[in-house]
Amino acid sequence: MTGQNYFVTAAGHCLDLESLDPEPLSSPTVFSTGSPHKLNLKQPYRLYRFLTDLEDILDRVPDEPTRLSLILPLVRHLLTHSEWLHMNFSPPDPVTGWSVLMLYDEPDYPITVQTVVWSPGSVSPIHNHGTWGVVALLHGQEKNRFWQRSPTSTHADHITPTQDHLLFPGDILGLTSEAIHQVEAIGDEPTISFNVYGETNYEQRFEFDPVKQTAIVF
Ligand SMILES: [Fe+2]
Repeated sequence: MTGQNYFVTAAGHCLDLESLDPEPLSSPTVFSTGSPHKLNLKQPYRLYRFLTDLEDILDRVPDEPTRLSLILPLVRHLLTHSEWLHMNFSPPDPVTGWSVLMLYDEPDYPITVQTVVWSPGSVSPIHNHGTWGVVALLHGQEKNRFWQRSPTSTHADHITPTQDHLLFPGDILGLTSEAIHQVEAIGDEPTISFNVYGETNYEQRFEFDPVKQTAIVF
């Protein structure tokens, strides 16, 4: 799986992760012996190993951008070595235009794994996730519009768009808890993505309305 790794800041800036870390793709870092070391690239990378490696990163690395810089290469490595993950998704709901297939969600475990499908032309609400998230595009083209909070004296939840970014298959996007985005399925094909999220803080997960200038928890 080829593509770029991107990182979205709370200020709505989409950065090329390779420009921040000179070798994130070739040598993913894991912590299974208690200290950072490189992933064994000869070993099959199964979902349970991925989940354990992520749990180790979350235990040892509190800083969200650093977490994401370590997690994104592992997501790429997993998808490169696990063809079955590319085949597991649900068709989009004809009414809502989207679907979610949960691949892993264990009570009291801080990571969920899912595939998400959007039918062509579908547009999501403007939202943040209230947790870190990783979106790996497997199929289709997805336009991301990023926003930043820009409170005024009269509207605390005012937001402004910062930039648009088009994702192609193989591209992976890391989102901080506060990163605000809106996705749109571009073109004639549905988008299929492999998504990984941390533990949601539901009090800090919002849908934004730039016209009413509101942020509503969902
Ligand atoms: Fe999202």
